[in-house]
Amino acid sequence: MNQPAIIPQPRSLATGSGAFEVNADTRIIADSALASTAGHFADWLRGATGFALPVEAAGDNAANTIRLVVDPAADTGEEGYQLTVTADQIEVRAADTAGVFYGTQTLRQLLPVAVESDSPVSGVSWVVPALTIQDGPRFRWRGLHLDVGRHLFPVAFIKKYIDLMALYKLNTFHWHLTEDQGWRIEIKQYPKLTEVGAWREASPYPADRTKLDGQRYGGFYTQDEVREIVAYAQARSITVVPEIEMPGHAVAALASYPELGCVGEGYKVRTYWGIADDVYCAGNEDVYTFLENVLTEVLDLFPSEFIHIGGDECPKVRWEVCPKCQAKIKQEGLKDEHELQSYFIRRMEKFLNDKGRRLIGWDEILEGGLAPNATVMSWRGAKGGIEAASAGHDVVMTPNTHCYFDYYQAEDTENEPPAIGRYLPLDHVYMFNPTDGVPADKAHHVIGGQGSVWTEYLPTSELVEYMAYPRTLALAETVWSDLDERDYDEFSARLQQHLKRLDKLNVNYRDPGK
Ligand code: ACM
Ligand code: ZN
Repeated sequence: MNQPAIIPQPRSLATGSGAFEVNADTRIIADSALASTAGHFADWLRGATGFALPVEAAGDNAANTIRLVVDPAADTGEEGYQLTVTADQIEVRAADTAGVFYGTQTLRQLLPVAVESDSPVSGVSWVVPALTIQDGPRFRWRGLHLDVGRHLFPVAFIKKYIDLMALYKLNTFHWHLTEDQGWRIEIKQYPKLTEVGAWREASPYPADRTKLDGQRYGGFYTQDEVREIVAYAQARSITVVPEIEMPGHAVAALASYPELGCVGEGYKVRTYWGIADDVYCAGNEDVYTFLENVLTEVLDLFPSEFIHIGGDECPKVRWEVCPKCQAKIKQEGLKDEHELQSYFIRRMEKFLNDKGRRLIGWDEILEGGLAPNATVMSWRGAKGGIEAASAGHDVVMTPNTHCYFDYYQAEDTENEPPAIGRYLPLDHVYMFNPTDGVPADKAHHVIGGQGSVWTEYLPTSELVEYMAYPRTLALAETVWSDLDERDYDEFSARLQQHLKRLDKLNVNYRDPGK
């Protein structure tokens, strides 16, 4: 038998003899703690097979069963699992429900590709080869990001994005919800954020970013939609981490409530891409009140431990000449505008910590001094992450050198859709090692890595998929699999099988052989 093509590569896999065949008489045995995971799996399996497999309580050891077992004593580690397939029975055993879920996703990948159809397929034997797998993740943060500020995407697409993440054992959806070019989340206390801030007068043409198309563009996610997405993700062992940008990338908010900026008037939701000089006024107490009120609603919607506050690309030119900002610098005994940014972030961190949450921000939050408990998301290479980890802070690595999926996938850009002008091919993503450059005794501070998908050049869901796939599969392996298990040629061979699966799932991936 060929080695099964599982992505990300499991920690250990031993093939057996024979195979288990799922048929109309197969039963799923799961205890009540797994009712949701088991129900989800049964529903999913019904799509292609047409079998309505019953989910029964634990205790029955009969043949032709798929047993899902949570066993706190299992030696599988957080999110890990053991999968045993014999001709008689399939068992997924894990210490936590996330581990059981990942066992079912591996099982999914072991079934014939036809299983990805959502309507019954006839003439297929639903066989799973006999084997034993011991598996578990290298990192706890296995992320994929999506910028919905520059362009937004339907709820159905967000769910598809989440489904694909789950299939590849990614567990953190970083949802970039606010930008200069659009505020995308309903905030009840501040309706203008979406009445005004969610709409821009035009967008740059993808092929020529110096010209505007003249088309009004916008939209946002209601709180009901956000709740629906968070619950959908949770059912797939995925945490949604919201990002509310501050103090920069805030022009859409300033257009809605101009009193929150240093100048106080004349803002419009930004039409061009790039970095805006206008940012929240750091000297105005009303700004902190506003952001705390916004975050209060956000915390209510998102149960995630981490809340992303952005922090990147905040020019200081307005603060340098703003009387309120300068007064705040004096009053707080700060050295300069960098320390003012640090003051801003520290206040937000205290607010979040008091609510039992942790702050994460882009690596610019190092400038002027890092907030005491902050986690750093390193994007300008790994440098900021290395510095933060060395100082004892937790770090998520998404260096643009390996993880920015808005960069080109081909050296010859002629035949590619317009993108940000840098090059990041699949094999380069595969070389990503989140702990590279981090001192060995600080490597435990690297809690993981993620792919980032900025959407200035991605107006459609199809283009998002084209940029994210198959690079996300390479990324998934770098954050799940052990380093010594990784081999690009061997990954490429497995990838060929997965492209067939992605075809069935209607994913508009870029053909890596092109
Ligand atoms: C970023 O790419 N500005 C975080
Ligand atoms: Zn100011």
